Amino acid sequence: MKLQDKVAIVGGGTGAVGEGIVKTLLSHGATVIVPMRSLEKEESLRQYVAPTRTGSLVTYAYNIGQIEQAEAFREAVLHEFGRIDMVVASLGGWSMVHHLVDMPMAKWKEVLHNNLTTHFLFAKTFIPVLEKQNNGLYVNINGGAQENIAPLAGAMTIISSAQNRMVEVLHHEAREANYRVRSIAAFTPVQTRARGSAVDSSWVSAEDLGNHIAKLYLGKVSPDPITHKLT
Ligand SMILES: NC(=O)c1ccc[n+]([C@@H]2O[C@H](COP(=O)([O-])OP(=O)(O)OC[C@H]3O[C@@H](n4cnc5c(N)ncnc54)[C@H](OP(=O)(O)O)[C@@H]3O)[C@@H](O)[C@H]2O)c1
Repeated sequence: MKLQDKVAIVGGGTGAVGEGIVKTLLSHGATVIVPMRSLEKEESLRQYVAPTRTGSLVTYAYNIGQIEQAEAFREAVLHEFGRIDMVVASLGGWSMVHHLVDMPMAKWKEVLHNNLTTHFLFAKTFIPVLEKQNNGLYVNINGGAQENIAPLAGAMTIISSAQNRMVEVLHHEAREANYRVRSIAAFTPVQTRARGSAVDSSWVSAEDLGNHIAKLYLGKVSPDPITHKLT
């Protein structure tokens, strides 16, 4: 229980990968805070993490895809907990439907919003807290699309690369400070509850990602590049 007394926020903690990260951080004893666009997904998440008897799950109904709500969420968390040790952004979702030039404008805007703008909003909301504390870890969860082009998923390559550059910028802007900004990228599909048995045991699991975050926070990953590629 190495993260006992640590406060972690998992944006996207209702998602396939995010819920596995939530469960793993709980297993290390952390208090894990998950914002939800609605509380409809709360029951499913609580059932999933129920076997984990350590840590504490706290949920808030805020849509962090909108700046006003993201800021209100941050203020509510700071009011209740006073500090944040870890921020994890496991935001967005896969889109594999169109050749790039066939993508309808509405779909492009949706993918851009869910996979890039939400990351910008989340960082814009929480990096200043780590900056003020001069302490803590910010983690972006990304995938192998940043390097690989999959059929009909060109937008994911563009956005995944942009996410990676965003983390590099945030890291650069934090270079004089004591808090860290990192990306952890799964270079395989991820084993999640949502995939059920349709997984390959050689793939990275959501728990692997959670354990990597825990070790990274504790300074137990060496080397420690800006982007950690899990294969
Ligand atoms: N799944 C994989 O095999 C895989 C592989 C490699 C990397 N990854 C990475 O893992 C991360 C998460 O993927 P996932 O498979 O877990 O996706 P997911 O199941 O679709 O979950 C996405 C999460 O992001 C939230 N979200 C999306 N758009 C949002 C918006 N506009 N405003 C607020 N919240 C928003 C969702 O909230 P709601 O619950 O409200 O929809 C959900 O919690 C991504 O960064 C992806 O690159 C996944």
